Amino acid sequence: MTTVDADLDIPLSTAMRQGSLAQHSDAESATFTSELMAGRINEAGYTDYLRLLRRVYAALEAVGRELADDPIAAELYDPALDRLAAIESDIAHWSGGGSLDIDSPAATAYAERVRAAASSPLRFIAHHYTRYLGDLSGGLAIGRVIDRTYGSTGQGIAFYDFETIAKPKDYKDGYRARLDALPLDAAQRAEVVAEVQEAFRCNQALFDELSASMDAYRR
Ligand code: HEM
Repeated sequence: MTTVDADLDIPLSTAMRQGSLAQHSDAESATFTSELMAGRINEAGYTDYLRLLRRVYAALEAVGRELADDPIAAELYDPALDRLAAIESDIAHWSGGGSLDIDSPAATAYAERVRAAASSPLRFIAHHYTRYLGDLSGGLAIGRVIDRTYGSTGQGIAFYDFETIAKPKDYKDGYRARLDALPLDAAQRAEVVAEVQEAFRCNQALFDELSASMDAYRR
């Protein structure tokens, strides 16, 4: 694990990225993720992945609304990023109206961790960054793979369609600038970076759970 760098000379967004680089490459090379990107996961597997994420985004977006007036959280919280409705419509598409939910210890633990961040805007922004900046980056590539793999011609990939964010790169640049302008001391920055690492651990636990069901998910 990279040591948390509380050096105030480094922009916070850089510290967050550097602090999670190794975990990011672990996430990319997890069995489920690499099989998904190679087009070797079936619709059932992809739907279960969305079901896990639904739990996480339900928590993330509920806490976001609770903290919308907090001066730190409000710098990053933006309803234009909300994914819950999109995820639910994608699950409905891929499951033919089946259950939105799934039994998952990893998703339960992740959602609880996010909910606990309601008492800490610093921890909330760490979870916010980890999911939404990921969705606006590699997430968009995943959407293209899903479309190609299942020949869905734009159906069932609402998750990757940020309707009101025309240029993800510009949005991410603005987001990083807002992170970097937060008036945080070294200890607070360290808390944010440590929680980013915790958020990545939570995501890895989702992938571990999905990877364990590979036999059912392979196409
Ligand atoms: C197949 C899996 C993945 C691929 C292919 C992927 C790919 C990428 C790429 C190419 C970027 C850089 C974009 C840029 O420089 O603007 C990026 C950034 C990012 N990804 Fe991923 N990613 C994957 C999985 C994940 C996961 C599981 C998470 C965590 C939930 C995640 C979180 C992030 C974050 C937070 C960033 C922004 C880094 C920053 O600029 O601060 N990614 N991803």
